[in-house]
Amino acid sequence: MTELLFDDAATFSSPLLTLFAVDIATGGRDADALPTLLTTSDALSDAVGEFLTSGEFRAECGETLLLHRPAGLRAERLLVVGLGKVKALCPAELRKAAGTAIRFARARNIQAAALHFPEDRALSDEHLDTLDCLPAARALVEGILLANYEPDTYRNDRKDHDLERMTVLAPAQQASTQEEIRSGFAEGQSIAAAQNWARVLVNEPGNILTPAELGRRAAAMAAEAGLSCEVHSTDTLRELRMGAFLAVAQGSAEPPALIVMRYEPDERLPADAPVLGLVGKGITFDTGGISIKGAEGMHHMKYDMAGAAAMLGAMQAIAALKLPVRVLCIVCAAENMPSSTAYKPGDVLTTMSGTTVEVLNTDAEGRLVLADGLHYAKTLGATHLIDAATLTGACVVALGKVNSGLFSNDEDTCDRFLRAYRSAGEHFWRLPCTDDYKPLIESSIADIQNTGMDRYGGAITAAMFLKEFAGDTPWVHLDIAGQAWIDDARSDIAKGPSGVAVRSIVEWVRTYTA
Ligand code: BES
Ligand code: MN
Ligand code: ZN
Repeated sequence: MTELLFDDAATFSSPLLTLFAVDIATGGRDADALPTLLTTSDALSDAVGEFLTSGEFRAECGETLLLHRPAGLRAERLLVVGLGKVKALCPAELRKAAGTAIRFARARNIQAAALHFPEDRALSDEHLDTLDCLPAARALVEGILLANYEPDTYRNDRKDHDLERMTVLAPAQQASTQEEIRSGFAEGQSIAAAQNWARVLVNEPGNILTPAELGRRAAAMAAEAGLSCEVHSTDTLRELRMGAFLAVAQGSAEPPALIVMRYEPDERLPADAPVLGLVGKGITFDTGGISIKGAEGMHHMKYDMAGAAAMLGAMQAIAALKLPVRVLCIVCAAENMPSSTAYKPGDVLTTMSGTTVEVLNTDAEGRLVLADGLHYAKTLGATHLIDAATLTGACVVALGKVNSGLFSNDEDTCDRFLRAYRSAGEHFWRLPCTDDYKPLIESSIADIQNTGMDRYGGAITAAMFLKEFAGDTPWVHLDIAGQAWIDDARSDIAKGPSGVAVRSIVEWVRTYTA
Protein backbone atom coordinates (compact mmCIF):
# COMPACT_ATOMS: atom_id res chain seq x y z
CA MET A 1 0.00 0.00 0.00
CA THR A 2 1.31 3.42 -0.94
CA GLU A 3 -0.33 6.45 0.56
CA LEU A 4 0.07 10.18 0.55
CA LEU A 5 -0.57 12.06 3.78
CA PHE A 6 -0.33 15.72 4.56
CA ASP A 7 1.02 15.22 8.02
CA ASP A 8 3.86 16.15 10.35
CA ALA A 9 6.78 13.73 9.94
CA ALA A 10 8.05 14.39 13.47
CA THR A 11 4.92 13.01 15.09
CA PHE A 12 4.34 10.22 12.56
CA SER A 13 4.93 6.78 13.93
CA SER A 14 6.84 4.45 11.59
CA PRO A 15 9.57 1.81 11.76
CA LEU A 16 11.57 3.92 9.31
CA LEU A 17 11.29 7.58 8.44
CA THR A 18 13.28 8.85 5.45
CA LEU A 19 14.51 12.38 5.09
CA PHE A 20 16.35 13.78 2.07
CA ALA A 21 19.50 15.88 2.07
CA VAL A 22 21.40 17.72 -0.66
CA ASP A 23 25.04 18.63 -1.09
CA ILE A 24 25.25 22.43 -1.34
CA ALA A 25 29.04 22.61 -1.52
CA THR A 26 30.14 24.43 -4.68
CA GLY A 27 33.87 24.03 -4.36
CA GLY A 28 34.52 27.73 -3.85
CA ARG A 29 34.10 29.59 -0.57
CA ASP A 30 31.70 26.95 0.75
CA ALA A 31 33.75 23.94 -0.32
CA ASP A 32 33.26 22.47 3.13
CA ALA A 33 29.58 23.37 3.46
CA LEU A 34 27.67 20.64 5.23
CA PRO A 35 24.77 18.89 3.51
CA THR A 36 21.38 20.54 3.93
CA LEU A 37 18.29 18.63 4.97
CA LEU A 38 15.26 19.26 2.80
CA THR A 39 12.97 19.99 5.70
CA THR A 40 11.72 23.06 7.54
CA SER A 41 10.91 20.98 10.61
CA ASP A 42 13.10 21.88 13.59
CA ALA A 43 12.28 18.57 15.24
CA LEU A 44 13.68 16.66 12.26
CA SER A 45 16.75 18.86 11.95
CA ASP A 46 17.43 18.55 15.67
CA ALA A 47 17.15 14.78 15.49
CA VAL A 48 19.86 14.61 12.84
CA GLY A 49 21.90 17.19 14.74
CA GLU A 50 25.58 16.45 15.12
CA PHE A 51 25.50 13.47 12.75
CA LEU A 52 25.39 15.97 9.95
CA THR A 53 28.13 18.21 11.36
CA SER A 54 30.45 15.20 11.73
CA GLY A 55 31.32 15.53 8.05
CA GLU A 56 30.90 11.78 7.61
CA PHE A 57 27.86 12.16 5.40
CA ARG A 58 28.31 14.00 2.09
CA ALA A 59 24.75 13.58 0.74
CA GLU A 60 25.93 11.97 -2.47
CA CYS A 61 23.05 10.63 -4.48
CA GLY A 62 21.95 7.38 -2.85
CA GLU A 63 24.27 7.76 0.18
CA THR A 64 22.58 6.79 3.45
CA LEU A 65 22.86 7.69 7.14
CA LEU A 66 20.83 5.73 9.71
CA LEU A 67 19.88 6.76 13.23
CA HIS A 68 18.07 4.50 15.69
CA ARG A 69 15.60 5.97 18.15
CA PRO A 70 15.99 9.52 16.86
CA ALA A 71 15.47 12.00 19.68
CA GLY A 72 12.19 13.89 19.67
CA LEU A 73 10.59 11.86 16.85
CA ARG A 74 8.02 9.09 16.96
CA ALA A 75 9.71 7.04 14.23
CA GLU A 76 11.85 4.09 15.36
CA ARG A 77 14.60 4.89 12.85
CA LEU A 78 15.54 7.90 10.83
CA LEU A 79 17.21 7.34 7.47
CA VAL A 80 18.78 10.32 5.74
CA VAL A 81 19.31 9.74 2.01
CA GLY A 82 21.47 11.97 -0.14
CA LEU A 83 20.25 13.54 -3.38
CA GLY A 84 23.66 14.68 -4.58
CA LYS A 85 24.64 18.15 -5.73
CA VAL A 86 21.86 20.66 -5.38
CA LYS A 87 22.61 22.22 -8.78
CA ALA A 88 22.06 18.89 -10.49
CA LEU A 89 18.90 18.05 -8.58
CA CYS A 90 16.26 16.55 -10.87
CA PRO A 91 13.35 14.18 -10.32
CA ALA A 92 15.74 11.37 -11.33
CA GLU A 93 17.75 11.83 -8.14
CA LEU A 94 14.57 11.74 -6.07
CA ARG A 95 13.47 8.55 -7.79
CA LYS A 96 16.78 6.91 -6.99
CA ALA A 97 16.92 8.18 -3.39
CA ALA A 98 13.36 7.05 -2.65
CA GLY A 99 14.16 3.66 -4.15
CA THR A 100 17.29 3.41 -2.05
CA ALA A 101 15.23 4.02 1.11
CA ILE A 102 12.77 1.29 0.17
CA ARG A 103 15.47 -1.27 -0.61
CA PHE A 104 17.29 -0.30 2.57
CA ALA A 105 14.12 -1.20 4.49
CA ARG A 106 13.48 -4.41 2.53
CA ALA A 107 16.98 -5.71 3.18
CA ARG A 108 16.36 -5.32 6.92
CA ASN A 109 12.89 -6.84 6.95
CA ILE A 110 11.30 -3.55 7.88
CA GLN A 111 7.62 -3.71 6.95
CA ALA A 112 6.76 -0.04 6.61
CA ALA A 113 8.49 3.17 5.63
CA ALA A 114 7.55 6.81 5.60
CA LEU A 115 9.25 9.38 3.39
CA HIS A 116 9.31 13.08 4.10
CA PHE A 117 8.44 15.00 0.94
CA PRO A 118 11.46 17.20 0.11
CA GLU A 119 10.86 20.86 0.91
CA ASP A 120 12.76 23.24 -1.33
CA ARG A 121 11.94 26.05 1.15
CA ALA A 122 14.73 24.64 3.29
CA LEU A 123 17.20 25.95 0.71
CA SER A 124 18.17 29.53 0.03
CA ASP A 125 17.34 30.94 -3.41
CA GLU A 126 20.95 30.89 -4.59
CA HIS A 127 20.93 27.10 -4.39
CA LEU A 128 17.68 26.00 -5.99
CA ASP A 129 14.87 28.00 -7.53
CA THR A 130 12.03 25.64 -6.90
CA LEU A 131 11.46 21.96 -6.94
CA ASP A 132 8.46 21.34 -9.18
CA CYS A 133 6.02 19.54 -6.91
CA LEU A 134 4.22 17.46 -9.51
CA PRO A 135 7.27 15.80 -11.08
CA ALA A 136 8.88 15.50 -7.65
CA ALA A 137 5.90 13.65 -6.20
CA ARG A 138 5.73 11.48 -9.29
CA ALA A 139 9.40 10.54 -9.16
CA LEU A 140 9.18 9.87 -5.45
CA VAL A 141 6.34 7.38 -5.75
CA GLU A 142 7.87 5.80 -8.86
CA GLY A 143 11.09 5.26 -6.95
CA ILE A 144 9.18 3.69 -4.08
CA LEU A 145 7.13 1.28 -6.19
CA LEU A 146 9.89 0.29 -8.60
CA ALA A 147 12.17 -0.50 -5.66
CA ASN A 148 9.54 -2.68 -4.05
CA TYR A 149 9.59 -5.15 -6.97
CA GLU A 150 11.63 -8.34 -6.71
CA PRO A 151 11.79 -11.03 -9.43
CA ASP A 152 11.44 -13.93 -6.95
CA THR A 153 8.06 -15.27 -8.12
CA TYR A 154 9.35 -18.82 -8.48
CA ARG A 155 11.36 -19.16 -5.26
CA ASN A 156 9.75 -21.34 -2.62
CA ASP A 157 11.95 -19.72 0.01
CA ARG A 158 10.83 -16.30 -1.11
CA LYS A 159 10.54 -14.10 1.94
CA ASP A 160 7.80 -11.61 2.08
CA HIS A 161 10.08 -8.64 1.67
CA ASP A 162 7.49 -6.40 0.09
CA LEU A 163 6.82 -3.38 2.24
CA GLU A 164 3.25 -3.37 3.45
CA ARG A 165 2.99 0.33 3.96
CA MET A 166 4.81 3.13 2.20
CA THR A 167 3.78 6.63 3.16
CA VAL A 168 4.78 9.91 1.63
CA LEU A 169 4.45 12.67 4.22
CA ALA A 170 4.07 16.14 2.78
CA PRO A 171 4.10 19.07 5.19
CA ALA A 172 0.55 20.32 5.68
CA GLN A 173 1.56 23.97 5.29
CA GLN A 174 2.23 23.45 1.59
CA ALA A 175 -1.51 23.75 1.05
CA SER A 176 -1.20 25.67 -2.21
CA THR A 177 0.76 22.84 -3.77
CA GLN A 178 -1.22 19.98 -2.28
CA GLU A 179 -3.15 19.49 -5.49
CA GLU A 180 0.05 19.24 -7.55
CA ILE A 181 1.54 16.75 -5.15
CA ARG A 182 -1.67 14.71 -5.29
CA SER A 183 -1.66 14.59 -9.10
CA GLY A 184 2.01 13.72 -9.30
CA PHE A 185 1.51 11.00 -6.74
CA ALA A 186 -1.43 9.48 -8.62
CA GLU A 187 0.40 9.65 -11.96
CA GLY A 188 3.50 8.06 -10.53
CA GLN A 189 1.44 5.22 -9.07
CA SER A 190 -0.13 4.44 -12.46
CA ILE A 191 3.16 4.62 -14.32
CA ALA A 192 5.15 2.55 -11.83
CA ALA A 193 2.40 -0.08 -11.64
CA ALA A 194 2.52 -0.38 -15.43
CA GLN A 195 6.31 -0.61 -15.44
CA ASN A 196 6.26 -3.30 -12.75
CA TRP A 197 3.62 -5.21 -14.69
CA ALA A 198 5.96 -5.13 -17.70
CA ARG A 199 8.82 -6.37 -15.50
CA VAL A 200 6.75 -9.35 -14.35
CA LEU A 201 6.18 -10.30 -18.00
CA VAL A 202 9.87 -9.95 -18.89
CA ASN A 203 10.84 -12.10 -15.92
CA GLU A 204 8.58 -14.97 -16.98
CA PRO A 205 10.51 -17.90 -18.45
CA GLY A 206 9.96 -19.06 -22.01
CA ASN A 207 8.19 -22.25 -20.97
CA ILE A 208 5.50 -20.26 -19.18
CA LEU A 209 5.27 -17.10 -21.24
CA THR A 210 4.65 -18.55 -24.69
CA PRO A 211 3.35 -16.23 -27.42
CA ALA A 212 -0.21 -17.40 -26.68
CA GLU A 213 0.26 -16.78 -22.96
CA LEU A 214 1.58 -13.28 -23.68
CA GLY A 215 -1.62 -12.76 -25.65
CA ARG A 216 -3.73 -13.91 -22.70
CA ARG A 217 -1.88 -11.66 -20.24
CA ALA A 218 -2.27 -8.70 -22.60
CA ALA A 219 -5.98 -9.38 -23.04
CA ALA A 220 -6.51 -9.66 -19.28
CA MET A 221 -4.70 -6.39 -18.67
CA ALA A 222 -6.67 -4.69 -21.45
CA ALA A 223 -9.99 -5.86 -20.00
CA GLU A 224 -9.05 -4.38 -16.64
CA ALA A 225 -7.69 -1.14 -18.08
CA GLY A 226 -10.61 -0.56 -20.46
CA LEU A 227 -8.59 -1.06 -23.64
CA SER A 228 -9.78 -3.02 -26.65
CA CYS A 229 -7.66 -6.02 -27.48
CA GLU A 230 -7.61 -8.73 -30.13
CA VAL A 231 -5.18 -11.64 -30.21
CA HIS A 232 -4.66 -13.35 -33.56
CA SER A 233 -2.59 -16.32 -34.63
CA THR A 234 -1.31 -18.18 -37.70
CA ASP A 235 -4.51 -18.02 -39.77
CA THR A 236 -4.77 -14.24 -39.52
CA LEU A 237 -1.05 -13.84 -40.19
CA ARG A 238 -1.57 -15.83 -43.40
CA GLU A 239 -4.60 -13.73 -44.37
CA LEU A 240 -2.58 -10.57 -43.77
CA ARG A 241 0.34 -12.06 -45.75
CA MET A 242 2.79 -11.40 -42.95
CA GLY A 243 5.48 -13.51 -44.62
CA ALA A 244 8.33 -12.33 -42.38
CA PHE A 245 6.52 -12.77 -39.05
CA LEU A 246 5.22 -16.19 -40.19
CA ALA A 247 8.72 -17.32 -41.20
CA VAL A 248 10.15 -16.59 -37.76
CA ALA A 249 7.25 -18.41 -36.07
CA GLN A 250 7.23 -21.48 -38.33
CA GLY A 251 10.06 -23.33 -36.58
CA SER A 252 8.23 -23.56 -33.27
CA ALA A 253 5.41 -25.78 -32.05
CA GLU A 254 4.17 -22.71 -30.19
CA PRO A 255 1.82 -20.70 -32.42
CA PRO A 256 2.58 -16.98 -32.84
CA ALA A 257 0.42 -14.23 -31.37
CA LEU A 258 -0.39 -10.93 -33.05
CA ILE A 259 -1.72 -8.63 -30.34
CA VAL A 260 -3.68 -5.57 -31.43
CA MET A 261 -4.62 -3.18 -28.66
CA ARG A 262 -6.40 0.14 -29.01
CA TYR A 263 -6.82 3.10 -26.74
CA GLU A 264 -9.55 5.58 -27.65
CA PRO A 265 -9.77 8.64 -25.36
CA ASP A 266 -13.08 9.83 -23.93
CA GLU A 267 -12.61 13.27 -25.50
CA ARG A 268 -13.84 13.81 -29.01
CA LEU A 269 -10.73 14.48 -31.09
CA PRO A 270 -10.62 16.00 -34.58
CA ALA A 271 -10.65 13.42 -37.35
CA ASP A 272 -7.12 14.36 -38.37
CA ALA A 273 -5.69 14.01 -34.84
CA PRO A 274 -2.57 11.83 -34.76
CA VAL A 275 -2.83 8.09 -34.25
CA LEU A 276 0.25 6.78 -32.51
CA GLY A 277 1.35 3.26 -33.37
CA LEU A 278 3.35 1.42 -30.70
CA VAL A 279 5.04 -1.72 -32.03
CA GLY A 280 6.83 -4.23 -29.81
CA LYS A 281 9.15 -7.18 -30.48
CA GLY A 282 7.70 -10.13 -28.60
CA ILE A 283 10.13 -13.02 -29.12
CA THR A 284 9.28 -15.12 -26.07
CA PHE A 285 12.48 -17.09 -26.56
CA ASP A 286 15.27 -16.52 -29.08
CA THR A 287 17.49 -19.55 -29.70
CA GLY A 288 18.75 -17.91 -32.89
CA GLY A 289 16.93 -20.54 -34.96
CA ILE A 290 19.02 -22.47 -37.52
CA SER A 291 21.73 -19.79 -37.09
CA ILE A 292 21.72 -21.00 -33.49
CA LYS A 293 23.26 -19.05 -30.64
CA GLY A 294 25.97 -20.43 -28.34
CA ALA A 295 24.91 -21.96 -25.03
CA GLU A 296 26.54 -19.30 -22.89
CA GLY A 297 23.97 -16.84 -21.64
CA MET A 298 21.25 -18.18 -23.92
CA HIS A 299 18.83 -18.35 -20.98
CA HIS A 300 18.77 -14.56 -21.10
CA MET A 301 16.89 -14.77 -24.37
CA LYS A 302 13.65 -15.16 -22.43
CA TYR A 303 13.80 -11.38 -22.18
CA ASP A 304 13.64 -10.99 -25.95
CA MET A 305 10.03 -9.87 -25.53
CA ALA A 306 10.96 -6.83 -23.42
CA GLY A 307 10.03 -4.46 -26.25
CA ALA A 308 6.54 -5.97 -26.34
CA ALA A 309 6.28 -5.72 -22.56
CA ALA A 310 7.33 -2.05 -22.68
CA MET A 311 4.64 -1.25 -25.23
CA LEU A 312 1.93 -3.15 -23.37
CA GLY A 313 2.99 -1.53 -20.09
CA ALA A 314 2.86 1.87 -21.73
CA MET A 315 -0.69 1.10 -22.96
CA GLN A 316 -1.74 0.27 -19.42
CA ALA A 317 -0.36 3.58 -18.14
CA ILE A 318 -1.84 5.59 -21.03
CA ALA A 319 -5.28 4.19 -20.23
CA ALA A 320 -4.87 4.87 -16.51
CA LEU A 321 -3.74 8.45 -17.16
CA LYS A 322 -6.58 8.93 -19.65
CA LEU A 323 -4.29 10.76 -22.07
CA PRO A 324 -6.29 12.58 -24.79
CA VAL A 325 -4.64 10.94 -27.80
CA ARG A 326 -5.41 7.94 -30.00
CA VAL A 327 -2.98 5.08 -29.55
CA LEU A 328 -2.77 1.63 -31.03
CA CYS A 329 -0.34 -1.08 -30.08
CA ILE A 330 0.88 -4.02 -32.14
CA VAL A 331 2.85 -6.84 -30.57
CA CYS A 332 4.43 -9.52 -32.73
CA ALA A 333 5.00 -12.52 -30.48
CA ALA A 334 6.73 -15.72 -31.61
CA GLU A 335 9.35 -18.20 -30.52
CA ASN A 336 12.53 -18.41 -32.65
CA MET A 337 13.44 -22.12 -32.80
CA PRO A 338 15.52 -24.45 -34.95
CA SER A 339 13.56 -27.44 -36.26
CA SER A 340 12.73 -29.21 -39.49
CA THR A 341 10.05 -26.62 -40.13
CA ALA A 342 12.24 -23.63 -39.29
CA TYR A 343 13.11 -20.94 -41.80
CA LYS A 344 16.65 -21.11 -43.13
CA PRO A 345 19.51 -18.86 -44.16
CA GLY A 346 19.05 -18.08 -47.84
CA ASP A 347 15.25 -18.16 -47.64
CA VAL A 348 13.49 -15.30 -49.41
CA LEU A 349 10.44 -13.93 -47.63
CA THR A 350 7.68 -11.67 -48.89
CA THR A 351 6.69 -9.25 -46.17
CA MET A 352 3.21 -7.82 -45.70
CA SER A 353 4.31 -4.63 -47.47
CA GLY A 354 5.40 -6.63 -50.52
CA THR A 355 9.11 -5.93 -49.94
CA THR A 356 11.10 -9.14 -50.35
CA VAL A 357 13.82 -10.09 -47.86
CA GLU A 358 16.74 -12.44 -48.20
CA VAL A 359 17.47 -14.12 -44.87
CA LEU A 360 21.19 -14.23 -44.21
CA ASN A 361 20.92 -15.09 -40.55
CA THR A 362 17.89 -16.51 -38.77
CA ASP A 363 19.09 -14.92 -35.53
CA ALA A 364 18.20 -11.51 -36.97
CA GLU A 365 14.53 -12.39 -36.37
CA GLY A 366 13.39 -9.33 -34.43
CA ARG A 367 13.60 -7.00 -37.41
CA LEU A 368 11.57 -9.52 -39.44
CA VAL A 369 8.60 -9.66 -37.08
CA LEU A 370 8.78 -5.87 -36.61
CA ALA A 371 8.80 -5.32 -40.39
CA ASP A 372 5.31 -6.78 -40.60
CA GLY A 373 4.25 -5.15 -37.32
CA LEU A 374 5.27 -1.66 -38.45
CA HIS A 375 3.57 -2.08 -41.82
CA TYR A 376 0.41 -3.42 -40.19
CA ALA A 377 0.28 -0.45 -37.79
CA LYS A 378 0.30 1.87 -40.80
CA THR A 379 -2.55 -0.02 -42.46
CA LEU A 380 -4.54 0.39 -39.23
CA GLY A 381 -4.11 4.16 -39.47
CA ALA A 382 -0.99 4.94 -37.45
CA THR A 383 0.33 8.39 -38.40
CA HIS A 384 3.41 8.15 -36.16
CA LEU A 385 5.33 5.01 -35.22
CA ILE A 386 7.49 3.97 -32.32
CA ASP A 387 8.99 0.54 -31.84
CA ALA A 388 10.92 -1.02 -28.97
CA ALA A 389 13.00 -4.15 -29.25
CA THR A 390 15.87 -6.05 -27.70
CA LEU A 391 17.17 -5.97 -31.22
CA THR A 392 20.95 -6.23 -31.37
CA GLY A 393 23.97 -7.24 -29.33
CA ALA A 394 25.79 -4.64 -31.43
CA CYS A 395 23.81 -1.89 -29.72
CA VAL A 396 25.10 -3.12 -26.37
CA VAL A 397 28.66 -3.12 -27.78
CA ALA A 398 28.17 0.48 -28.93
CA LEU A 399 26.46 2.00 -25.89
CA GLY A 400 27.09 -0.42 -23.04
CA LYS A 401 24.30 -0.91 -20.56
CA VAL A 402 23.94 2.75 -19.67
CA ASN A 403 22.04 4.02 -22.70
CA SER A 404 19.59 2.40 -25.07
CA GLY A 405 19.82 3.11 -28.78
CA LEU A 406 17.50 5.67 -30.35
CA PHE A 407 16.99 5.99 -34.10
CA SER A 408 14.56 8.12 -36.09
CA ASN A 409 13.66 9.22 -39.60
CA ASP A 410 12.00 12.46 -38.48
CA GLU A 411 13.38 15.39 -36.46
CA ASP A 412 10.14 16.51 -34.80
CA THR A 413 9.21 12.99 -33.74
CA CYS A 414 12.72 12.42 -32.45
CA ASP A 415 12.77 15.75 -30.57
CA ARG A 416 9.59 14.74 -28.80
CA PHE A 417 11.25 11.51 -27.74
CA LEU A 418 14.35 13.35 -26.52
CA ARG A 419 12.15 15.51 -24.29
CA ALA A 420 10.18 12.45 -23.25
CA TYR A 421 13.07 10.31 -22.04
CA ARG A 422 14.59 13.24 -20.18
CA SER A 423 11.41 13.96 -18.28
CA ALA A 424 11.01 10.23 -17.62
CA GLY A 425 14.56 10.07 -16.26
CA GLU A 426 15.69 7.33 -18.66
CA HIS A 427 18.82 7.14 -20.84
CA PHE A 428 18.79 6.94 -24.62
CA TRP A 429 21.46 7.93 -27.12
CA ARG A 430 20.72 8.73 -30.73
CA LEU A 431 22.55 6.81 -33.42
CA PRO A 432 22.37 7.55 -37.15
CA CYS A 433 20.28 5.79 -39.76
CA THR A 434 20.84 8.02 -42.76
CA ASP A 435 20.66 6.57 -46.26
CA ASP A 436 24.49 6.46 -46.38
CA TYR A 437 24.06 3.16 -44.56
CA LYS A 438 21.59 1.74 -47.07
CA PRO A 439 24.23 -0.45 -48.81
CA LEU A 440 24.41 -2.53 -45.60
CA ILE A 441 21.05 -4.12 -46.37
CA GLU A 442 21.20 -4.26 -50.17
CA SER A 443 20.81 -7.76 -51.58
CA SER A 444 21.29 -9.07 -55.10
CA ILE A 445 18.71 -11.79 -54.52
CA ALA A 446 15.83 -9.85 -52.95
CA ASP A 447 14.89 -6.21 -52.28
CA ILE A 448 16.85 -6.21 -49.02
CA GLN A 449 18.69 -8.64 -46.74
CA ASN A 450 18.18 -9.07 -43.02
CA THR A 451 21.80 -8.54 -41.90
CA GLY A 452 24.92 -6.80 -43.13
CA MET A 453 27.93 -8.68 -44.50
CA ASP A 454 30.02 -8.15 -41.34
CA ARG A 455 29.33 -7.15 -37.76
CA TYR A 456 30.24 -3.48 -38.10
CA GLY A 457 27.42 -1.05 -37.34
CA GLY A 458 25.08 -3.89 -36.45
CA ALA A 459 22.61 -1.76 -34.52
CA ILE A 460 22.41 0.67 -37.43
CA THR A 461 21.97 -2.16 -39.94
CA ALA A 462 18.94 -3.34 -37.97
CA ALA A 463 17.55 0.20 -37.81
CA MET A 464 18.06 0.64 -41.58
CA PHE A 465 16.06 -2.53 -42.11
CA LEU A 466 13.15 -1.27 -39.98
CA LYS A 467 13.30 2.14 -41.64
CA GLU A 468 12.34 0.48 -44.94
CA PHE A 469 9.04 -0.51 -43.38
CA ALA A 470 8.37 2.78 -41.60
CA GLY A 471 8.65 4.38 -45.04
CA ASP A 472 7.47 8.00 -45.00
CA THR A 473 5.75 7.68 -41.66
CA PRO A 474 7.55 9.52 -38.83
CA TRP A 475 9.17 6.83 -36.74
CA VAL A 476 11.30 6.27 -33.67
CA HIS A 477 13.13 3.00 -33.00
CA LEU A 478 14.38 2.01 -29.54
CA ASP A 479 17.00 -0.74 -29.23
CA ILE A 480 16.75 -1.73 -25.57
CA ALA A 481 18.91 -4.89 -25.65
CA GLY A 482 21.42 -3.45 -23.16
CA GLN A 483 19.00 -2.08 -20.60
CA ALA A 484 16.05 -4.46 -20.53
CA TRP A 485 17.83 -6.73 -18.05
CA ILE A 486 19.83 -5.47 -15.05
CA ASP A 487 22.79 -7.77 -14.31
CA ASP A 488 23.68 -6.47 -10.86
CA ALA A 489 21.35 -5.10 -8.19
CA ARG A 490 21.71 -1.39 -7.51
CA SER A 491 20.90 0.53 -4.34
CA ASP A 492 17.45 1.41 -5.68
CA ILE A 493 16.51 -1.50 -7.91
CA ALA A 494 16.63 -5.30 -7.98
CA LYS A 495 18.64 -7.19 -10.53
CA GLY A 496 16.53 -8.63 -13.31
CA PRO A 497 13.93 -7.09 -15.61
CA SER A 498 14.09 -3.28 -15.69
CA GLY A 499 10.89 -2.28 -17.47
CA VAL A 500 12.98 0.22 -19.44
CA ALA A 501 11.22 2.47 -21.96
CA VAL A 502 7.74 2.26 -20.41
CA ARG A 503 8.05 5.72 -18.84
CA SER A 504 9.66 7.35 -21.88
CA ILE A 505 7.04 5.94 -24.25
CA VAL A 506 4.24 7.27 -22.03
CA GLU A 507 5.89 10.71 -21.99
CA TRP A 508 6.35 10.59 -25.76
CA VAL A 509 2.64 9.88 -26.18
CA ARG A 510 1.90 12.74 -23.81
CA THR A 511 3.70 15.19 -26.12
CA TYR A 512 0.92 14.60 -28.67
CA THR A 513 -1.82 15.72 -26.27
CA ALA A 514 -2.93 19.11 -27.55
N1 BES B 1 17.63 -10.86 -29.39
C1 BES B 1 18.86 -10.68 -30.05
C2 BES B 1 19.62 -9.44 -29.60
C3 BES B 1 20.09 -9.39 -28.18
C4 BES B 1 21.40 -9.67 -27.88
C5 BES B 1 19.25 -9.00 -27.17
C6 BES B 1 21.85 -9.58 -26.59
C7 BES B 1 19.71 -8.92 -25.89
C8 BES B 1 21.00 -9.21 -25.59
C9 BES B 1 18.62 -10.58 -31.55
O1 BES B 1 17.55 -11.29 -32.05
C10 BES B 1 19.84 -11.10 -32.21
O2 BES B 1 20.09 -12.26 -32.06
N2 BES B 1 20.56 -10.26 -32.93
C11 BES B 1 21.76 -10.64 -33.59
C12 BES B 1 21.77 -10.02 -34.95
C13 BES B 1 22.85 -10.54 -35.85
C14 BES B 1 22.57 -11.98 -36.23
C15 BES B 1 22.91 -9.69 -37.08
C16 BES B 1 22.93 -10.16 -32.75
O3 BES B 1 22.85 -9.09 -32.15
O4 BES B 1 23.91 -10.89 -32.67
MN1 MN C 1 18.04 -13.28 -32.53
ZN1 ZN D 1 16.05 -11.67 -30.76
